[in-house]
Amino acid sequence: MAKDGNNGAARFLPDHLDLDSLREASAGCQGCDLYRNASRTVFGEGPARARFMLVGEQPGDQEDRKGAPFVGPAGRILDRGLEEAGIDRDDVYVTNAVKHFSFVQRGKRRIHQKPTAAEVEACQPWLTAELAVVEPDVVVVLGATAARSLLGAAFRVTRQRGEPVPLGDALAVATIHPSAVLRAPDRDAAYAGFLADLRVAAGTVKRAA
Ligand code: URA
Ligand code: SF4
Repeated sequence: MAKDGNNGAARFLPDHLDLDSLREASAGCQGCDLYRNASRTVFGEGPARARFMLVGEQPGDQEDRKGAPFVGPAGRILDRGLEEAGIDRDDVYVTNAVKHFSFVQRGKRRIHQKPTAAEVEACQPWLTAELAVVEPDVVVVLGATAARSLLGAAFRVTRQRGEPVPLGDALAVATIHPSAVLRAPDRDAAYAGFLADLRVAAGTVKRAA
């Protein structure tokens, strides 16, 4: 549970919603405790008129240092997948379900910690606002945390991946997180599955266009 007086991002949202006002306001968010130890808020990036919105879990170590989403190892898998699926980076807005890096310190290393359900819920107003501003045609849901935030706790990525499901006025296509590709015992097979799901997302936009 969030602590008293620390009940989510909603009270930090600006009155007028656009990507600049959201980014600026999110920098001061204290909607859960994650802002205390992370370096900065890592807000989404991309054009306001992108047809694709990609949603990951939370910034990692490198994202926390650089202040941009998916600029580390997972981002390289994502970039490769987008290119091979024929999805133009100029048509993509990239963000995360949770905007601060959650980690435990082990000596000099900061070890990624999965955000709690309460943190995902606390951060959801930012994601909802990004969806409202960008109005993507297709939302690519990268892994279980993004799925929990966007599609509910009952959604199972393993069973429902690669199938477009309604999400407001958009369609969502879930797939595994690119970090899961990196961790998979058979990386080639995991990547092939990831790419197949991205191709479904690409095809969904072509049909909608
Ligand atoms: N993993 C994520 O889910 N998001 C990032 O931005 C980087 C790694
Ligand atoms: Fe706010 Fe989200 Fe950061 Fe928590 S993780 S402080 S809700 S921006």
